Amino acid sequence: MAQSSQSSRDQHGRYAAQTVPAVHRVRSAAEDVALGFAEQPKRLPPKYFYDDHGSRLFDAICDTAEYYPMRTEGQLLAESAASIMAAVQPGHILELGSGTSRKTEHLLAAAADQGQAPHYWAFDVCDSIMASAGERLHQRFPWLGMSVLLGDYGAGLAHLPRPDGRCLYLFLGGSLGNFEPEESARVLGEIAEHMRSGDRLLLGVDRVKDRSVLKAAYDDAAGATAAFNRNVLNVLNREVGADFDPEAFAHEAFFNEAQSRIEMHLISQRDQSVHVGALGRDYAFPVGERLHTEISRKFTPDSLADELARAGLAMAEHYQPSDGAFSLVLAAPRY
Ligand code: SAH
Ligand code: TRP
Repeated sequence: MAQSSQSSRDQHGRYAAQTVPAVHRVRSAAEDVALGFAEQPKRLPPKYFYDDHGSRLFDAICDTAEYYPMRTEGQLLAESAASIMAAVQPGHILELGSGTSRKTEHLLAAAADQGQAPHYWAFDVCDSIMASAGERLHQRFPWLGMSVLLGDYGAGLAHLPRPDGRCLYLFLGGSLGNFEPEESARVLGEIAEHMRSGDRLLLGVDRVKDRSVLKAAYDDAAGATAAFNRNVLNVLNREVGADFDPEAFAHEAFFNEAQSRIEMHLISQRDQSVHVGALGRDYAFPVGERLHTEISRKFTPDSLADELARAGLAMAEHYQPSDGAFSLVLAAPRY
């Protein structure tokens, strides 16, 4: 892959994405459905949430009063950005699952204040959200060179660009917690392998807390999260030729204490059968049948330290609010 630090903005000011080649074979949507629907309960990988509409719905979740992780992590970044940028002085910032890049603005503003001009690499599975983030960032930071990388961060990171100069990797928003423990260990290990000695990883993970606060963050009163969860059925209708009626499924979120994770499900509200064109078969969804769509793991200081250690990362700084609601960790490779 080209390792140019040129902005990937074309002459019309649009951001053209470079595709990051997968290392591990990526299953097709039809394969993911065939495998996931064979499980009990039926399951689906979370990346299908983030089509163009889904990314916008996620942004709406971030603005709800209940979804504290966005505000809390944003506040931690606002407070710590200057010291992070002064300590790391990165030539490059590479963000996994960058989405709207809203919180990244704190780091870019601190960079500008300190006379730094890092190149920004956004990496996401959703092309359109990176393009609109690019427009907004360009308005606020006209000096910024930005490259847009399209791909699946679960498919291996060996083909990520590795430009010269120190790199600050970002993995924010608690996205690490959307992986099962084995997967998150692999992904964090792959990030660690990609890092050189002066590089740092800024990792944001959510913490265990009062279960009603946790539940509300994934079940807001205005229904933004419910709409986001149901939208995955529209994505399946398009991607695998299914005929789901999203309104015939109810959103449910609860804290699974034993596994320290929020679980999101969609629950069939009537006896129904769903045709999946790409697989040429029907799936029964009797009333009460669940489709498990997401996990969001919640960490303690100990489980977070374990997670980093297993990946070969050392905690250099730990930023957290006084109530311990969220953790922002600056981590270094252990060599
Ligand atoms: N980091 C942002 C966005 C979090 S939402 C924040 O903290 O606000 C998760 C983001 O990760 C979305 O933009 C989604 O499109 C992206 N994403 C989800 N699964 C992904 C995958 N497998 N590979 C790459 N990006 C993914
Ligand atoms: N990374 C986010 C989190 O775990 C993703 C997320 C927030 C999410 N709200 C959601 C995923 C609702 C599915 C449904 O906090």
